[in-house]
Amino acid sequence: MQDHTEFLQEVLITEEELQVRIKELGEEISRDYEGKELMLACILRGGVMFLTDLMRAISVPHTIDFMAVSSYGAGARQSSGQVRITLDLKTSVEDMDLLLVEDIIDSGNTVASVLQLFETRNPNSLRVCTLLDKSERRETYVPIHYTGFTIPNKFVFGYGLDLDEYYRDLPFIGVVRPDKYIPPD
Ligand code: PRP
Repeated sequence: MQDHTEFLQEVLITEEELQVRIKELGEEISRDYEGKELMLACILRGGVMFLTDLMRAISVPHTIDFMAVSSYGAGARQSSGQVRITLDLKTSVEDMDLLLVEDIIDSGNTVASVLQLFETRNPNSLRVCTLLDKSERRETYVPIHYTGFTIPNKFVFGYGLDLDEYYRDLPFIGVVRPDKYIPPD
């Protein structure tokens, strides 16, 4: 695999901007969940970088859990209306104050489906926190309570978001060079 610079058109959000905003989100969440039973549910795999920085910015006690869903194939950029749960949470969400943590909300189909499922499991409360909101692309309404950045309709990667599974480790969000990267079918 080539170095990421081959595919990088521009840095959209720098490492510093990400970290400053995540600290702010952490403080806001800490205020809102004081005295509550906060549980962070992260959707694999893109949300992992965000989750690990966010949880360190949250000062109230909380638990974490993970789930995985299938929506996009490798490199594809459209999600279908419904998603399939491929890995479910390990712990019960009943009576928990559940906060769903995502790296990006695009069409909204993934989070809308996951919220529908969680609602049947009787959490005490249910909210959504996303690092990136590509709101122009929304197909399904999703209530978002915490947003890091609203971004334009550009193909982005880094900080959890992949290009054919690579470059999730980059500490910034970059825009893909359309002349260099051709997504597989
Ligand atoms: C991305 C992202 C969200 C979803 C958002 O995951 O992490 O889960 O797509 O798209 P939507 O709003 O159009 O449903 P992806 O399926 O690419 O998997 P990954 O997190 O493992 O990279």
